[in-house]
Amino acid sequence: MATERGQFNSRIGFILAAAGSAVGLGNIWKFPFEVGQGGGAAFVVLYLTFCFLLCFPVMVSEIAIGRKTQLNPVGAFKKLGHGNWSIIGLLGIIAGVLILSFYNVVAGWAFGYFLEMVQGNFGIGKEFGTFITDVTKISLYGIVFMGVTAFIVSRGISGGIERAAKILMPTLFILILGLIFYALTLDGAMEGIKFYLVPDFSEINGEVVYSALGQAFFSLSLGMGALITYGSYVSRKQNIVRSAALITLTDVSIAFLAGLMIFPFVAYLSQGSMEGVEGGAGLIFATLPGVFESLGPTLGIVIGSVFFLLLSFAALTSTVSLLEVPVAYLVDEKKIKRPYAVWGMAIFIFLLGIPSMLSNGSVEALTSFVTLGDDDKATNFMDFIGLIASDSFLPIGGALISIFVAYIWKTNNLNEEIAIGRENAIPIVTKYINFAVMFICPVILGTIGIITILDRFFGVQFF
Ligand code: TRP
Repeated sequence: MATERGQFNSRIGFILAAAGSAVGLGNIWKFPFEVGQGGGAAFVVLYLTFCFLLCFPVMVSEIAIGRKTQLNPVGAFKKLGHGNWSIIGLLGIIAGVLILSFYNVVAGWAFGYFLEMVQGNFGIGKEFGTFITDVTKISLYGIVFMGVTAFIVSRGISGGIERAAKILMPTLFILILGLIFYALTLDGAMEGIKFYLVPDFSEINGEVVYSALGQAFFSLSLGMGALITYGSYVSRKQNIVRSAALITLTDVSIAFLAGLMIFPFVAYLSQGSMEGVEGGAGLIFATLPGVFESLGPTLGIVIGSVFFLLLSFAALTSTVSLLEVPVAYLVDEKKIKRPYAVWGMAIFIFLLGIPSMLSNGSVEALTSFVTLGDDDKATNFMDFIGLIASDSFLPIGGALISIFVAYIWKTNNLNEEIAIGRENAIPIVTKYINFAVMFICPVILGTIGIITILDRFFGVQFF
């Protein structure tokens, strides 16, 4: 059975694949900006605490559920609990499908920007708004990105996902280090670093804490069974606890490094003034091309292309993990052959992403899709799906996974599973994981999910 489903061949292969799932667009365009805005190093400390105290126990739980059952999320909950609990798995699969539908659109932009940089078209930054409404181009990029993702997933676990991660992750790491070294030599680099890191505890408020929690959870790819799925391909020789710690550490480190690369660039362009720095898509797609242009034609092309290649690689290992979840479900539960499951799902999710693709200015009804809560600006379709699938479903999923592990499967079974392959276990770590899944994770993650739903969909004001 196990051999039929496939397995990661090596410890490092699994860690790289799971870290690849975690390291994505979230790390490179969201984390640095949140740090810059939310109190610099003070935010980093807060974020690290959340990753290890709150997210790490959920990660260990997900991997353990996967390895114990050797099944996709739906099958896994069915096997360990009762039929009804498989609803958590189903919610997760739906969340994954929805997240991939819009994530692939943005990944397509990143890939499109790589092609523009290679041709030296730096003006694209100012034309970002036009670029994302060029339906022919962005559809094509979206198709290419989903196609490459599907190709990797269709090759299976060790031959596809693991092999891709073993090439892409080290490359990503080298590219990011190269760009940091270069960025630090630029004029004004230190101003950028200051904006990024000088701690300012007065910036830490309820809203910052809330967004740090949400970001940590999303960034580690938790709450939807992605790691249950990857865990189901892990051998019993592996140490789950140590692997989870390494995956968490890698994700946080890459996010941290992304800021060291981006802010010196921005400061160089603005000659040290960090006022009015935009976040998210604007920072990456609108601002950075101008930076690359100012480096001169040759160097600009090299640095700009490397940057967007890196962004595409980071996104690719994430889209791979997002696609693997529904595929594993179809293969295990519906007995569909892997290639059919992969290509069928990829086409379905691409089509599902079309409204998101058109919601950035192409179609007015999708661009101004709904006005939520007490907002004065409408939310577009893409952000709306993000709100449902990632901001609401993931924390709720995480809370349910912890509750399931603590009270249905029970912590002694969790402990038994994580003891396999674990040498030199530190008892207090196990104790903490148990305590966290019983009390901390359900309460905090449940609260985040409920706050989000009440605030965004019912207009209850929290911050
Ligand atoms: N973690 C990825 C990022 O930071 C996104 C991602 C990939 C993800 N797979 C996931 C998020 C599964 C939640 C669940 O960009």
